Amino acid sequence: SISELLHLLSEKHQLSLSAYEKILQERTEEDEELARSLAKECTEKHYGNGVYTRGLIELTNYCKNNCYYCGIQRENAEVERYRLFKEEILSCCEEGYRLGFRTFVMQGGEDPYFTDERIVDIVTAIREAYPDCAITLSIGEKSRESYEKYYKAGVNRYLLRHETADEEHYQYLHPKELSWKRRMRCLQDLKEIGFQVGCGFMVGSPHQTVKTLAKDLYFIQEFQPDMCGIGPFIPQHATRFAKEKAGSLRETLFLLALLRLIKPNLLLPATTALGTIDEHGRELGILSGANVLMPNLSPTEVRKKYLLYDNKICTGDESAQCRADLEKKMKAIGAELLVDRGDAKKEKESE
Ligand code: 5AD
Repeated sequence: SISELLHLLSEKHQLSLSAYEKILQERTEEDEELARSLAKECTEKHYGNGVYTRGLIELTNYCKNNCYYCGIQRENAEVERYRLFKEEILSCCEEGYRLGFRTFVMQGGEDPYFTDERIVDIVTAIREAYPDCAITLSIGEKSRESYEKYYKAGVNRYLLRHETADEEHYQYLHPKELSWKRRMRCLQDLKEIGFQVGCGFMVGSPHQTVKTLAKDLYFIQEFQPDMCGIGPFIPQHATRFAKEKAGSLRETLFLLALLRLIKPNLLLPATTALGTIDEHGRELGILSGANVLMPNLSPTEVRKKYLLYDNKICTGDESAQCRADLEKKMKAIGAELLVDRGDAKKEKESE
């Protein structure tokens, strides 16, 4: 039965591809509740009630790619493009540090303006100013040589969502010039270089099926990333997926719980997209096994321009400046925001 499979997963942290398919296909509301409670227990065992935070700095909304789902795709002429300069980035970090952030995530479109030299220059400055902080980059596909330069400059972590573990599905979501194999190569390179690596996918993206989702779970079981970012797909009005339906809260929460059971020490964010489809999305994410929040630390003027999807929350307490409010909301659900780099804990043997 599904409940037996869920118990098995929580003990062994691995299942066959077909078992994942079966779970995704046949689970009932009670099974979801079971997954949630097993995941919560597992999170507590590894991380207690602590929640890690990262300050998210949205570096640039220029992008040379044209991912069909994404609001900042190069062909979207509605986007007012911007870039942050080194001084602006450093003042984001300064404010972030004061607010209690000890990880800075620099995320952006694939913007050729940010050459390796410019990235290394920015990273070097942050590394020097904040030796006790972790630096995360999320700027897309690069050559192994480029990744090596970033690593040497002091970058600790790299986020590159795999988007889908099914090659055909990947091609449905991206133009021909983008390749699933290249993306997989990048993830492999990042891991071999020594980064803590994050992958991830959207829940409910167009043409996603129980089969492709089962592959995502199996991929994560095999790849063993340090982090995994998932959130519901949310249509953006200027993209070809404008009329598609959004991923659901319920499905996202169930997948968060499964991911926690697959990798007990996984760094698992309750994402902005989850907070966008439901007012309490992030709290519910934490209650389903997530243990990371990534409030927005970008300068206020640019936040409205970094819109990957419609209705993205960007003026309320998802902002880094409202850390105190977030802290209260977490307290209310029995969780505690930590002032900590938030590295993954060592894997504990389950007795
Ligand atoms: N809805 C939800 N998530 C999206 N992303 C991009 N566009 C959307 C969208 N319309 C996600 C992708 C990307 C990450 C930065 O944001 O998974 O990797």
